[in-house]
Amino acid sequence: MMVVILIMFMIAIMKTASPCRRIEQDLSGVLQIPSNVSSSTNCLSIMRKQITAIPGRAFSRLQNLTRLVISRNDMLENINAFAFTRLPLLTEIYISDNGALRSIKASAFSDLPKLQTISIINAIHLIHIHSDAFKNITRLKHLEISNTGLKRFPNFAKIHSTAESFQFEMKDNIDIRRVPSNAFRGLCTQHISKIMLCRNGIKKVASDAFNGTKIGSLSLKGNKQLTHINRNAFVGSSELEILDISNTALKSLPRCNLSGLLVLIAESAHNLKKLPDVKLFTKLQRANLTYPSHCCPFKKIYRNGSGNENPCPNPKIYKFLNLSCPNFTLVTCTPTKDAFNPCEDIMSVPLRALMWIISVLALVGNAAVLLVLLGSRSKLTVPRFLMCHLAFSDLCMGIYLIIIATVDMLTRGLYYNWAIDWQTGLGCSVAGFFTVFASELSVFTLTAITLERWHTITHALRLDRKLRLRHACVVMTAGWIFSSIAALLPTVGVSSYGKVSICLPMDVESPMAQVYVVSLLLFNILAFFCVCGCYLSIYLTVRNPSSVRAHADTRVAKRMAVLIFTDFVCMAPISVFAVSAALKLPLITVSDAKLLLVLFYPINSCSNPFLYAFFTHTFRRDFFLLTARFGLFKTRAQIYRTESSSCQ
Ligand SMILES: *[C@@H]1O[C@H](CO)[C@@H](O)[C@H](O)[C@H]1NC(C)=O
Ligand SMILES: *[C@@H]1O[C@H](CO)[C@@H](O)[C@H](O)[C@H]1NC(C)=O
Ligand SMILES: *[C@@H]1O[C@H](CO)[C@@H](O)[C@H](O)[C@H]1NC(C)=O
Ligand SMILES: *[C@@H]1O[C@H](CO)[C@@H](O)[C@H](O)[C@H]1NC(C)=O
Ligand SMILES: *[C@@H]1O[C@H](CO)[C@@H](O)[C@H](O)[C@H]1NC(C)=O
Ligand SMILES: *[C@@H]1O[C@H](CO)[C@@H](O)[C@H](O)[C@H]1NC(C)=O
Ligand SMILES: *[C@@H]1O[C@H](CO)[C@@H](O)[C@H](O)[C@H]1NC(C)=O
Ligand SMILES: *[C@@H]1O[C@H](CO)[C@@H](O)[C@H](O)[C@H]1NC(C)=O
Ligand SMILES: *[C@@H]1O[C@H](CO)[C@@H](O)[C@H](O)[C@H]1NC(C)=O
Repeated sequence: MMVVILIMFMIAIMKTASPCRRIEQDLSGVLQIPSNVSSSTNCLSIMRKQITAIPGRAFSRLQNLTRLVISRNDMLENINAFAFTRLPLLTEIYISDNGALRSIKASAFSDLPKLQTISIINAIHLIHIHSDAFKNITRLKHLEISNTGLKRFPNFAKIHSTAESFQFEMKDNIDIRRVPSNAFRGLCTQHISKIMLCRNGIKKVASDAFNGTKIGSLSLKGNKQLTHINRNAFVGSSELEILDISNTALKSLPRCNLSGLLVLIAESAHNLKKLPDVKLFTKLQRANLTYPSHCCPFKKIYRNGSGNENPCPNPKIYKFLNLSCPNFTLVTCTPTKDAFNPCEDIMSVPLRALMWIISVLALVGNAAVLLVLLGSRSKLTVPRFLMCHLAFSDLCMGIYLIIIATVDMLTRGLYYNWAIDWQTGLGCSVAGFFTVFASELSVFTLTAITLERWHTITHALRLDRKLRLRHACVVMTAGWIFSSIAALLPTVGVSSYGKVSICLPMDVESPMAQVYVVSLLLFNILAFFCVCGCYLSIYLTVRNPSSVRAHADTRVAKRMAVLIFTDFVCMAPISVFAVSAALKLPLITVSDAKLLLVLFYPINSCSNPFLYAFFTHTFRRDFFLLTARFGLFKTRAQIYRTESSSCQ
């Protein structure tokens, strides 16, 4: 019994696996099926023939045909009207690699009750498929039209398939620019499992393009010029579960029913900088996106199937307490956050307030210093000239801080959605420019001021070696050029400001960028030691009992200590961070770096106005003289006026 079944089974296999009948005659001109081809043939392949056309009803004699392959016929130009019509058993048609094929005429594929697969591929001269070419193919399950020269979307409205799990593929048709309205209406009345429109030249998807369909998965991947999907494109369609818009130029997600979406794939979609509110994706399970920051909001969404946020944020604790935690799923989202893009706002809440205080202090303090110095009528001395530059650079730092604080305020709670716009935009470059320019010019000017003091004190009695304004001008011009170059380099590709939300040049990917960061650091360290050396020398000079200024000893020493201390406090943490960044050792995270940024980095900018201006005698004199011109503090001004005249 078993043996009989086995033999019958083998016969059945041999029958179904019978090789495809090939037409042996070298046909030329219009295809004619030779009379010795048996009418019971069920599989026919026409390959490498010199035919130019397939005429109407060419296969009508072969009523038992189930599979037809027409391939590599280099002269085949036309598939005429009714070419494949009325073949009751035909299930598959493959038309591939016919390089000269130009047109498919009306009703070519019509009234084919068993046809399941149509595949038309690699026909780059195929520019015309008649709008009635596909008609009444009720069992059609798989339709593919790929790598053709079509310029317009073919008409599928008369197919009227009723097959389950239909798959539609249209790939690599680089001249198809548009998906028209109702493009798929009439294709299939059932749920269409896949519509693949990959790597075509599609630029636009018209309104109502998917009207009358139920699509499971839609892929628009690789349509590099696709910028516009009409907001009504998905009107009249339903059940979209998987959407792939990778490698397109879309700026926003299409307005489809996001609440049904299970999978969203948008890799290399670099123009998609914002996502809608994640609460709209009530069923999403997986998202493959372009930017790490877009995955941030998904981390917080746990669901129990109804789209609500998870009431038990920490399942482990719930388990420990033996409480039942409601069922929830987590959205798997890639790429996950990296070290440079932690899922957080620019500033945390406590830092936010501090940031405002510090930035306002830096802005107001330095603006006041500049105003007084520039408004003063007394002669411009070298120290005052240098002081102007110091105040200006510290003002720039204030501008940077206020830019960051403002952006932080505007994007709070939603920074992940603004991250790309901000970090790749002009704003971040401008902010980054200000901060690097300001810090370098500030350090440079501080060094210049210290050197000038040291020079004046150690050469106090030698008038011939007195520093003149033009020397100072030359030095500061060099400082400006140096700082500008240092600040411009990241905008032209050496390192970059866009790597982190606070727009500092933290990009050390390339060796050039590493050299850049390390040189900035070395410059700052060098300047620091220079300042220390000068003050030591000054201290030793004034301590000398023979010095005329011995009485100023302790006062100078104290102020020196404060200056060096603030300078050091400002420098040290930044240096640690810069070293760790440059060596790619994660000693400190970006979140901690923000703390440094707010607490230490601007210390100089805030304290310089006090240390170098407000607390000095000459500055106070200038201040009261200036206010006196506007009718304020007249008596104080008088004191300073008499004092200064008595001194001279
Ligand atoms: C049909 O006839 C041609 C000659 O006319 C011959 O070359 C070919 O082998 C025949 N094919 C079959 C399937 O008998
Ligand atoms: C088609 O196949 C059936 C059975 O498989 C057979 O009875 C019939 O004669 C065939 N028709 C032709 C035209 O050969
Ligand atoms: C569709 O094709 C089937 C079988 O070929 C035929 O019986 C039917 O009449 C056709 N329907 C239309 C509307 O042409
Ligand atoms: C959408 O399709 C329905 C039938 O499925 C049709 O009645 C309606 O006119 C179509 N809408 C548009 C705008 O073409
Ligand atoms: C979106 O889809 C869900 C389920 O797929 C359905 O319940 C809901 O009504 C749809 N909303 C709209 C506006 O079509
Ligand atoms: C999406 O990302 C997952 C990893 O999270 C990966 O396994 C999968 O292959 C990706 N899918 C696509 C289509 O890129
Ligand atoms: C989901 O959570 C909500 C409240 O958070 C609850 O009302 C609902 O019953 C839960 N649904 C399921 C399926 O657990
Ligand atoms: C924890 O819950 C399980 C059932 O979910 C129960 O069998 C067990 O006794 C509970 N343990 C305690 C300590 O309540
Ligand atoms: C949780 O979800 C899984 C699958 O989503 C389901 O099999 C399971 O029954 C659910 N458990 C509860 C308690 O709802």
